[in-house]
Amino acid sequence: MLQNPTRGTAELSGAKRYTITAALPYTNGPIHIGHLAGVYVPSDIYSRYLRLQGRDVLFVCGSDEHGVAISMKAKKEGITPQEVIDKYDGIIRKSFSDFGISFDNYSRTSAKVHHDTASEFFKTLYEKGDFIEEVTEQLYDAKADQFLADRFVVGTCPKCGNEEAYGDQCEKCGSTLNATDLINPKSTITGETPILKSTKHWFLPLDRYEDFLKEWILVGHKNDWKPNVYGQVKSWIDGGLEPRAVTRDLDWGIDVPLEGAEGKKLYVWFDAPIGYISSSKEWAAREGKDWEPYWKDQDTKLVHFIGKDNIVFHCIIFPAMLKAEGSYILPDNVPANEFLNLEGNKLSTSKNWAVWLHEYLEEFPNQQDVLRYALTSNAPETKDNDFTWKDFQARNNNELAAIFGNFINRVVVLTHKYYDGIVPSPNEFSEVDEATLTELKAYPAVISSSIERYRFREALGEMMNVARLGNKYLADEEPWKMVKTDPARVQTQMYVALQIAAALRVLCEPFLPFTAGKLVETLRTETLQCNVSTTKTTWNDVATNSDLLPSGHQIGKGEILFAQIDDEQIQKQIDKLEATKKSNEADSFVAFPQKELIQFDDFAKMDLRVGTILEAEKMPKANKLLILKVDTGIDVRTIVSGIAESFSPEDIVGKRVTALVNLAPRNLRGVESQGMILMTNNAEGKLVFVNPDADCVGNGETIN
Ligand code: 2FM
Ligand code: ZN
Repeated sequence: MLQNPTRGTAELSGAKRYTITAALPYTNGPIHIGHLAGVYVPSDIYSRYLRLQGRDVLFVCGSDEHGVAISMKAKKEGITPQEVIDKYDGIIRKSFSDFGISFDNYSRTSAKVHHDTASEFFKTLYEKGDFIEEVTEQLYDAKADQFLADRFVVGTCPKCGNEEAYGDQCEKCGSTLNATDLINPKSTITGETPILKSTKHWFLPLDRYEDFLKEWILVGHKNDWKPNVYGQVKSWIDGGLEPRAVTRDLDWGIDVPLEGAEGKKLYVWFDAPIGYISSSKEWAAREGKDWEPYWKDQDTKLVHFIGKDNIVFHCIIFPAMLKAEGSYILPDNVPANEFLNLEGNKLSTSKNWAVWLHEYLEEFPNQQDVLRYALTSNAPETKDNDFTWKDFQARNNNELAAIFGNFINRVVVLTHKYYDGIVPSPNEFSEVDEATLTELKAYPAVISSSIERYRFREALGEMMNVARLGNKYLADEEPWKMVKTDPARVQTQMYVALQIAAALRVLCEPFLPFTAGKLVETLRTETLQCNVSTTKTTWNDVATNSDLLPSGHQIGKGEILFAQIDDEQIQKQIDKLEATKKSNEADSFVAFPQKELIQFDDFAKMDLRVGTILEAEKMPKANKLLILKVDTGIDVRTIVSGIAESFSPEDIVGKRVTALVNLAPRNLRGVESQGMILMTNNAEGKLVFVNPDADCVGNGETIN
């Protein structure tokens, strides 16, 4: 509940308009919950909230369709890059639309407007003398007859030692790299060690922007940028900036628009952020608007929503480009998120360790808001976080259904039961009523304050507190107990509860847009003439208008907002991940190379017997060891075996095994082991007994 109704009264910023960008996803695969949690849900919450505030908002995104990631996917699938981008652009667009991500425009970097905009941008910088043109030695794969840029080369990061750093960036420590910085570089096309070969490129001299970046970020944004973003940027600037090549020798991308630059393309990280501008231009052309104020007017607030691996590009390289060009504004904030993990492991497209959005909707149709809610409640805002299916279930059942859905359902059902769905006239308000309505009116500012500081988890928690306020009010007042004895009082109680429901319909919209849509239908709010200038209740009406649902207004019946999610549905998802894990383990199993040769005499020394396990128990305080009693045919003896992580004692009693019986006894944790059970790995890398029960049994002769 609202403990301190004065909190959250932070001054709302006075920007005239907002340009909000969400990182352009690479069209080399579908999108998963990590993308949604890190970038698209927070940017959507922010944009929807600002629109409800009546602010002028332009929210843009688009597909990032150049770069080595696309070429590699095309090679892998045996199709052209164009086919790759067309396929995934369609899938990604649909996911965004299905999840209610309310872009004003979603473009693609293969669009003509983007090629033109990026080329123009490059030419402007070139003509102003902002590039260094230089012939340098770059990594070259002689076998593939290709220069190795970006993801075409991996090697050890010179800064953190990560052995899988790319030619342009180490995703582990976030550093930007030149491919020639990598230690032990290897071509990802052929696996070859590259050679050096001369080639001409254009470099953006980042070192020239050091003073500007220090002043703008390290001084200017010390207090309003998130510590994770500020800290990363500071350490790069403090480490000294170097010129960065913004062109590549590749066959997929935007041509370098200069004479004598045939075969050269713009570096994907040069063109991609310009995609925000070209997406804005596309929007303006369609809507008959002017895009320039959204990018050039100092009264515009530009905010980039990204994941932490994109920080250097949005806080250093793109701002340096914008500054060099000269006519653009700089971002006001870059609220980058950390990463989301899935059931304890890093999300991975290549390992299929993900919850894909299109697959989620097949399993949980029309439950987009549940995922949006679970991801925001657990958003990786300040540190990496973990998504688990159990948490997802609990968020739905214990929070959305039990708190939010329950409150709305009670209000709607009681209003129909007592008043045929017509909002009753209130009588005299009690102190509790007044306090409740006052508390309700304070929430818009509280939630605003969290959202404007990019604390979406906190904001969501406060929105749920409004539903808690409603539940508490009904539980304390118990209108059902006095409807017969004091109907006048119940009218007032239900009127108050209905105002809370109407407020929730507005306050939940940034977070739960589908639920807000259902509430519009249930409460029939669009038919209202509130004491505001529009028929649509805005954010601020909740703070100022005491009569969101006036007496006499007819509400609808609605539906259950959040169905229970049962254990079976969750287990199915957990099993699916378990199957993925097993298949990944099998795929990654590499058989040990054969050991060095031994002679027949060495082998003949071994006395191998077929035996039967009579008893098995775990060795106390040891994870790996089992103590076995084995009937070897010559005696019954104790053998300690290191198989406890693969087999439980009850599963192996009675099993026939092959035992080496003349191995010198060894003392293991105080137990004498008199032999060894023979084990090996099967084709999937699993530990198995060397099985004496083969169906091929000889004629009984002994080999000596
Ligand atoms: O990391 C990525 O997925 C990039 N495609 C993000 C690009 S953001 C922007 F600059 F376009
Ligand atoms: Zn690194």
